[in-house]
Amino acid sequence: MTIVNVATPVASRSWDVLVLHGPNLNLLGLREPGIYGARTLAQIDIQLVELGISLNTTVQSFQSNHEGALVDAIHAARDRYQGIVINAGAYTHTSIAIRDAISAVQIPTVEVHLSNIYKREEFRHHSYLASIVVGQISGFGADSYYLGLQALVAHLEGLS
Ligand code: DQA
Repeated sequence: MTIVNVATPVASRSWDVLVLHGPNLNLLGLREPGIYGARTLAQIDIQLVELGISLNTTVQSFQSNHEGALVDAIHAARDRYQGIVINAGAYTHTSIAIRDAISAVQIPTVEVHLSNIYKREEFRHHSYLASIVVGQISGFGADSYYLGLQALVAHLEGLS
């Protein structure tokens, strides 16, 4: 049997990836830890930078509680980042504007969620982003971000 390790792509070049965190994710660590875990956003961001180094990828993160600020960040990512990892928080379920921004800039994007949104309230089952992103990772706590970054880099490597 051949085992293909998709999680550790052989780096062919370096990448710049933007990680976007939506509303209320600044409260990670305090906010419903039984659902979202004990890790703070700062801890997740540091670990993403460290993981990025091993993937030949520079990672920068931005969090906002405001839809327009997230749209602006996606627009500004054009010509600057080759990929985006986004946890849009509650905007996942409401924001056509964020969906349209991702479609407009055409930057390969991976959607992540700490919780498994399909095991929760019905209003969380629909994502406006799911059908325009490369893929979605949901339910692995902070690991969803790390898996998302690995999957995004593997996808970028496959395109190059
Ligand atoms: C979330 C799930 C969303 O439904 C919720 O509104 C969030 C966080 C997650 O990471 O599990 O804010 O995106």
